[in-house]
Amino acid sequence: MTVNDKAIERKRYDAFASQIDKNFEFDSLAEYLKDPYLFYMSCIELRAQADYKILELGSGTGNFTEVLLRTSAAVVASDISARSLEVLASLHNSENLTCLVMDMEELNKDEEFDIIVSAGSLSYGDNAIVLNNIYQALKPGGFFICVDSLNNNWIYRLNRFFHYLTGRRSLSTLRRMPSTRLFEIYNKKFEEVTVTYFGSLVWLAPVLKLFLRETPVSNTLKWFDTLINVKYSAFKFVMVARKNA
Ligand SMILES: C[S@@+](CC[C@H](N)C(=O)[O-])C[C@H]1O[C@@H](n2cnc3c(N)ncnc32)[C@H](O)[C@@H]1O
Repeated sequence: MTVNDKAIERKRYDAFASQIDKNFEFDSLAEYLKDPYLFYMSCIELRAQADYKILELGSGTGNFTEVLLRTSAAVVASDISARSLEVLASLHNSENLTCLVMDMEELNKDEEFDIIVSAGSLSYGDNAIVLNNIYQALKPGGFFICVDSLNNNWIYRLNRFFHYLTGRRSLSTLRRMPSTRLFEIYNKKFEEVTVTYFGSLVWLAPVLKLFLRETPVSNTLKWFDTLINVKYSAFKFVMVARKNA
């Protein structure tokens, strides 16, 4: 990310965090948006153990930190936005939690983690630098688990470009959106990489909602995903990458 864009994003998320005064309510998410996050959380729960050290990159105000704390592991929540971490600390009271103001491009390589996670933060750092940092900071056999938006589908790309034009995104984050090409690079570095794709037709949900209730909309979108190879048209993905033991 250019120095300028980094400052823009830090300021954006500092300001955003200043408006938050309560925990994120996962249940308030539209049904058709929940699946990738439910799967992300289940991937963490499946692998985490109480004696583990988990690092969260770009934790923000902690929307997905609770699942980490529930595992009883020692959790380091990190973000470039100090204000976000202040809010995270005020909303998540746990002796297992440490908050660390840190740029994911400048990860401290002296400390090692069993699991590193990221929810929606991968585009905020240079992909190659972040990948290498994650790899180095993981213990042998450790896991990197992330959920994010995929950049292959042009409809979602167009939407992000609109967000850039209206000042809700910086250019660097547009350029660094994860795509299927990034998975190939992770594949070369890590021992085993599994990617699960979600939501080809999420963009159609607002139209379907004019005629159907939320549950049928969600079921219709899921049903469509089972009919096609969701990979390139996906809205979201969950990647689990294991470092060689
Ligand atoms: C889309 S938000 C995701 C927040 C949270 N993980 C969630 O799912 O709600 C991206 C987060 O990345 C953080 N961020 C931006 N640039 C960063 C950087 N270079 N290093 C670490 N965190 C960064 C932002 O402050 C923000 O909290």
